[in-house]
Amino acid sequence: MTERQLACIILAAGKGTRMKSDLPKVLHPLGGLPMVRHVLAAATALDPAHIVVVVGPGMENVAQAVAPHATVVQENQLGTGDAVKAALPLLDGFAGDVLVLYGDTPLITVATLRAMVDSRNGDSDPAVVVMGMRPAEPGAYGRLIQGADGGLEKIVEFLDASEAERAVGLCNAGFMAFDGARMPGLIAAIGNDNAKGEFYLTDAVAVARGQGHACAVVEGPVEDALGVNSRAELAGIEKIFQRRLRLAAMANGATLLDPDTVWFAADTVLGRDVTVGQNVVFGPGVVVEDGVEIRAFSHLEGVVVRRRAIIGPFARLRPGSDVGEDAHVGNFVELKNTVLGAGAKANHLTYLGDSDIGAASNIGAGTITCNYDGYLKHRTVIGRDVFVGSNSTLVAPVTLGDGAFTAAATIVTRDVPDDALVISRADEVVKEGWAARYRIAKAALKARARKG
Ligand code: UD1
Ligand code: MG
Repeated sequence: MTERQLACIILAAGKGTRMKSDLPKVLHPLGGLPMVRHVLAAATALDPAHIVVVVGPGMENVAQAVAPHATVVQENQLGTGDAVKAALPLLDGFAGDVLVLYGDTPLITVATLRAMVDSRNGDSDPAVVVMGMRPAEPGAYGRLIQGADGGLEKIVEFLDASEAERAVGLCNAGFMAFDGARMPGLIAAIGNDNAKGEFYLTDAVAVARGQGHACAVVEGPVEDALGVNSRAELAGIEKIFQRRLRLAAMANGATLLDPDTVWFAADTVLGRDVTVGQNVVFGPGVVVEDGVEIRAFSHLEGVVVRRRAIIGPFARLRPGSDVGEDAHVGNFVELKNTVLGAGAKANHLTYLGDSDIGAASNIGAGTITCNYDGYLKHRTVIGRDVFVGSNSTLVAPVTLGDGAFTAAATIVTRDVPDDALVISRADEVVKEGWAARYRIAKAALKARARKG
């Protein structure tokens, strides 16, 4: 088998009316990433020489989401055959294999696509290879009609199919692989004399057979071909996708205490021997290094958590944060755009925003960085081995030098030198017996009020 070049055409011009959305369907996120980017990722894994995405008029945001890959606008949605035709000028003279994918079927796997390309390069030299599947309920899928030798004769769309054809269980998943050299001739010969009056890409099979070329079917999992037409279908696909991510995380050496309750983003990276507790949510852009423990009900997004750190329970790590090795971030602690040094601890009820915290510093319960003055954000810089007492208020911009110490409940507004103590509080007064006298006086008042 010779290595041939590959091109991928991704169809994404459909309006997605049933999503009832201002956002094009293929930009709705799956695992935090636009649907079409999942299809692109599967295509890219095959190392194609060209990728062309077919979009509808006004879908500049789709073009942006798939950049730097090329897009072409299909002016009128006259069917899948017409959509592919719109892409062909960008593949002029290309004689390798051409895979056609759908932008709204994000669960497609590299293994299935590879099997189709391999079949294209088989001995029978098929002009077209179609992915077939056998769903429990074939419903309105196109049906694959095979000849006596098992070769593919034609695809009939459900609306155009006879009773006998509708009884066929082998369905068209939608993905097709073409011989690039013969493809333009096949596409040009497709007509629109059918129930929908559309140019069906699926007719390329009957056209090829009419020209004496072989066509083939590669059967694959139904899951790979599940498409999104509504938000409910998207939610169903997200469930399947999350299951795949959980299995992959565990296969790579992470422990998930209750896998069904952990929510991943498509790009979440977990190291070895990471333990994730119940009900943990990973937004986009999270990297967790080896040996980290993330306890229940924590929410992480856009953050790096370094080796052996302990997060949560109930921690919130927001974008731009970096939690150092062996650091601890405890319950009801929020980090935003904050670097927490190695071995530093912020264990209780704290907000650390736009701050740099040195190694081994201890941030007491209730510490707040006042990073926003109503107009601008400012940084708080805390050195190494600093002890920030409970309920400290750090008004940024402000710096606490190495080894500094803030007394509990201090409001820090000016920079503190290394190894200094900063304390700001009213003088403490203790009045002996005051509480007992207060209770007696108040009880007497209450008794009098009741009588009167
Ligand atoms: C298509 C197949 C059907 C198969 C099914 C699998 C055809 C004629 N039929 O039907 O055999 O069982 O997929 O899901 O191909 N698109 C464009 N421009 C168009 C029309 C469609 O870009 O003018 C895009 C859509 O955005 C979508 C994809 O092509 O991503 C498939 O179109 P869709 O309308 O969903 O085709 P089906 O009717 O589902
Ligand atoms: Mg469809």
